[in-house]
Amino acid sequence: MKPPAKNSPWKTFHTRPEDGSEAGDYYDSTESERYAESNAMRRIQRQLTLRALELAQITLSSSVLDAGCGTGFSLEVLKEVGYNRIAGFDAVPALLKHARAKGFTVKKGDLREIPFKDGLFDSIISVSALQWILAEKTVENASKAAQEFWRVLKPNGIVVIQFYPRSEEEAMLAAKAFRAKGFAVRLITDNPQNPRKRKVFLLLKKP
Ligand SMILES: C[S@@+](CC[C@H](N)C(=O)[O-])C[C@H]1O[C@@H](n2cnc3c(N)ncnc32)[C@H](O)[C@@H]1O
Repeated sequence: MKPPAKNSPWKTFHTRPEDGSEAGDYYDSTESERYAESNAMRRIQRQLTLRALELAQITLSSSVLDAGCGTGFSLEVLKEVGYNRIAGFDAVPALLKHARAKGFTVKKGDLREIPFKDGLFDSIISVSALQWILAEKTVENASKAAQEFWRVLKPNGIVVIQFYPRSEEEAMLAAKAFRAKGFAVRLITDNPQNPRKRKVFLLLKKP
């Protein structure tokens, strides 16, 4: 995916780790510890998770999968809000060990190969993970994720994905891939004119 033009409202101000590497390469043991202990990361992930839940309106009795759960910051919020049937997966074992230490049920897996059985979950949330697989092979990888999200969801399942697309085009391609799979899709952008505060969400419903 090409970076946005210099005068684009989507231009980014710094290079991001997800622009040049896979999560498993970036989150080595040092970076995983730094992430796990960062109050700033925890605060941001909590805010994003609360906003995602506000948008998705998932009932408390639902089973919820956290796709790209990392150390479990979003899972902590789910638990505090009152969801009891929660699980997660992530590509990086060094992050997952922190989520396990917090008592969460988590597995190693990939957004393109989810390590759970078909039709297991009422809902999926994913916070700040999808952009990792969109830098290269954007359409192919978004389609694989759409296929996997569809597979593990029950009928009438709800999905909310917060992610950081590199451009409006990338956001639209991701939305299109989920729509092509059969999801009803809403693309919601908070603070669209402010690149530093912009937050993009995909709200999906499986019929
Ligand atoms: C910014 S962190 C957010 C983690 C989580 N939302 C939290 O509460 O901490 C992004 C996460 O996406 C995960 N990730 C990146 N690429 C992934 C992939 N292909 N499959 C699964 N997880 C992935 C990373 O390992 C990392 O844990």
